Amino acid sequence: MEETKINQHTLFGENMRTSVNELVIKDTDEKGKYSIEEIKNKVIFGDAFKVLKKIEDEVFDMVFIDPPYFLQLPNKELRRWTVKTVVEGVNDEWDKFSSFQEYDNFITRLLTEIKGVMKPNATIWVIATYHSIFRIGKIMQDLGYWILNDVVWIKTNPMPNWLGVRFTNATENLIWAVKDKNEEYTFNEDYAKIYGIDKVGTDIWVLPTCMGKERMKDEYGKKLHPTQKPTELLKRVILTSTKEGDLVLDPLAGTGTTGYVAQALKRNFIMIELNREYVKAVEKRFMKSSMIKVIPKVCQKQVKKYMKLEVD
Ligand SMILES: C[S@@+](CC[C@H](N)C(=O)[O-])C[C@H]1O[C@@H](n2cnc3c(N)ncnc32)[C@H](O)[C@@H]1O
Repeated sequence: MEETKINQHTLFGENMRTSVNELVIKDTDEKGKYSIEEIKNKVIFGDAFKVLKKIEDEVFDMVFIDPPYFLQLPNKELRRWTVKTVVEGVNDEWDKFSSFQEYDNFITRLLTEIKGVMKPNATIWVIATYHSIFRIGKIMQDLGYWILNDVVWIKTNPMPNWLGVRFTNATENLIWAVKDKNEEYTFNEDYAKIYGIDKVGTDIWVLPTCMGKERMKDEYGKKLHPTQKPTELLKRVILTSTKEGDLVLDPLAGTGTTGYVAQALKRNFIMIELNREYVKAVEKRFMKSSMIKVIPKVCQKQVKKYMKLEVD
């Protein structure tokens, strides 16, 4: 398929509305294999471990996963030192594991299933914080993934440090790896340059966390999902590592950021999510159209200022 000519002022088509019935498929134990046509551009409400086994081998061009962080927060409420507001961490059941061993097993099983459905030249992005990124990187190498980069996401609005006993954590890492190191994978350097620093396609991206209108809220006005990723981040991931018409997988969809951005950028997607509330949120989200613009959310001047590089 013809790639839209690259320019940071390019506007991709507006995200098209999809009717609710068309978007979600509920997986059942009785269901056998899925054909790609039947699940293309859909969210499967089900368990990724079961669903991935029902998808044919070597079909995806790119995979994005945002796995549980295994944050291991203490049971007590954390309050900020001075202002006393409650720290909203990730305290959901899906982020809990009884040990590192159990967490490693989850990641190993998931990355093994995913590898089976990736084309040999497909790439995978895995995002995590210091809590788990090192474990995930080792597991990926042990499974034979070939690491291409670790892109460091520098947050312009990190969660403040409230006790002053360690550095404020203002980064997340994205491991980018190819399934088979001998294969030619997609890398769109022109986009990498747009999102890098001073026209260099660096492995440092400066952008804010998901906030404001983009952040999905529940009926009480609270964050609907604790780890909703910014569309700006997924836009960069998708534009730098896929072509128009490619098939993208996100088996841990959450609020569906990956598919939402993929659709706007004329890529195809398949998402899987286990939690009913999040699946409902994805449905709601897809009913709202959005315009994804290539232009970076944080301009070069701001990035250089942030990085304390000289501004001309
Ligand atoms: C870190 S969140 C992903 C957030 C997402 N990137 C977004 O922008 O909203 C991980 C998600 O994985 C889901 N999950 C955990 N285990 C799963 C499984 N076995 N199958 C499908 N989804 C699962 C959780 O419900 C959670 O929404």
